[in-house]
Amino acid sequence: MDKPVKLGLLGLGTVGAGVCRILQQNREVIYKRAGTPFEIAKILVRDPEKQRGIEVDPRLLTTDAADILEDPEIAVVIELMGGLEPAYQYIHTALDKGKHVVTANKAVIASHGARLIRLAASRGVDLYYEGSVAGGIPIIKPLRESLVGNRIEEIMGIVNGTTNYILTRMTQEKADFTDVLAEAQALGYAEADPAADIEGHDAAHKLVILASLAFQTPISTHEVYCEGISKITAEDIAFAEHFGYTIKLLAIAKRQPKGIEARVHPTFVPNRHPLAAVHGVFNAIFLRGDAVGELMFYGRGAGDLPTGSAVIADIVDVLRNRKRGSHHRVETLWQSIPVEAMEDVRTRYYIRLHAVDRPGVLAQVAANFGAEGVSIESMIQQGRGQDQPVPIVFITHEVEERQMRASLARIATLPSIKDIANVIRVEGGLR
Ligand SMILES: NC(=O)c1ccc[n+]([C@@H]2O[C@H](COP(=O)([O-])OP(=O)(O)OC[C@H]3O[C@@H](n4cnc5c(N)ncnc54)[C@H](OP(=O)(O)O)[C@@H]3O)[C@@H](O)[C@H]2O)c1
Repeated sequence: MDKPVKLGLLGLGTVGAGVCRILQQNREVIYKRAGTPFEIAKILVRDPEKQRGIEVDPRLLTTDAADILEDPEIAVVIELMGGLEPAYQYIHTALDKGKHVVTANKAVIASHGARLIRLAASRGVDLYYEGSVAGGIPIIKPLRESLVGNRIEEIMGIVNGTTNYILTRMTQEKADFTDVLAEAQALGYAEADPAADIEGHDAAHKLVILASLAFQTPISTHEVYCEGISKITAEDIAFAEHFGYTIKLLAIAKRQPKGIEARVHPTFVPNRHPLAAVHGVFNAIFLRGDAVGELMFYGRGAGDLPTGSAVIADIVDVLRNRKRGSHHRVETLWQSIPVEAMEDVRTRYYIRLHAVDRPGVLAQVAANFGAEGVSIESMIQQGRGQDQPVPIVFITHEVEERQMRASLARIATLPSIKDIANVIRVEGGLR
């Protein structure tokens, strides 16, 4: 009988407790599948006295990371603390000391993934991070392994449950953003400081991880264009519905002739697209490969057990590799493709503006769109406001972002235009 492999857990919060719970529930089958016995030997926490709603031997708890990182008997470190520091330092130290690492930390992988992957390769150990994107949805392993025969053309994801929950409620109840956000906070679906979710930064981290794997090139977070959902109103939702679209916060990466597009922003998604049917806190990742065609992964993007499920799968992979001496089986990040500037991105647009309701206004707006090469696909002008501003809404054909910005700069100066209330990008349909 093999000696149990010792694991060290950094963090016993939501996900750490989920991992322990799954190990307690499904112990036998997981041990069999790993092909080797293993045990959690130490757990790092900040407060050993905290009630955690889970049965854990208190002798396993420590507040000193060295008890795990410096213990030569611990072969696998599972980092579930979150945040950049000290998590990055701990992962770096563990790999450097020849320990395998499993993490669910999107901030660390998005910011330092390429460096850590190189370090793991140089030490001949594994670095797995399935839980870092879309919680329980297996997407890292499909990109690293199952889809390697493909040239991935595009990847589009709903990868932030909080914003999808808010947009779903706004759509269902025709409610405004601030009201739904307050309710989401009260229900615990949104953080007290929701900026990372609402402004799209969390989704941008996840896009960096997905796009780096899909296109086999390092991408940094600052290269991702990022726009959040706080400007979306019930009016935008109603117009989207009128045109046959649903508004979603999408993380989008596409292969283009000169580079890669990488952007996070609210998007009009056609109702017939499978991403339009992803509601509430659910996540989904839609991708297109040249061989496999269209593929969508759907499931719970957060939570103790779903994320724990991803972490356990990584642990089992590490243990299987360890048993067969086949570490670092997958090479990644082997080319360098530039990320396109947002001005070069071509897409369609929804534009909602308020104009004084006088004859000739529409012709003026159309002329200014035309002057920058923007052509209109559909238009709605609502009500007669008797010299009061009325909403006018356009959907354009595909055009470069640069042209769209130039035309809007012109339109904003027209005396009859009160404001440009919102501009939302529109994604096309399925092929
Ligand atoms: N929650 C989710 O649904 C979810 C989904 C996908 C990915 N993730 C990722 O999984 C990771 C963990 O998330 P979580 O929600 O489980 O976090 P959490 O509930 O805040 O738990 C963090 C744990 O780490 C410990 N910890 C944090 N900083 C520490 C430090 N400096 N020294 C010692 N211990 C420290 C905490 O100890 P105490 O308990 O003593 O405070 C706690 O046990 C994050 O990277 C997160 O992005 C989470």
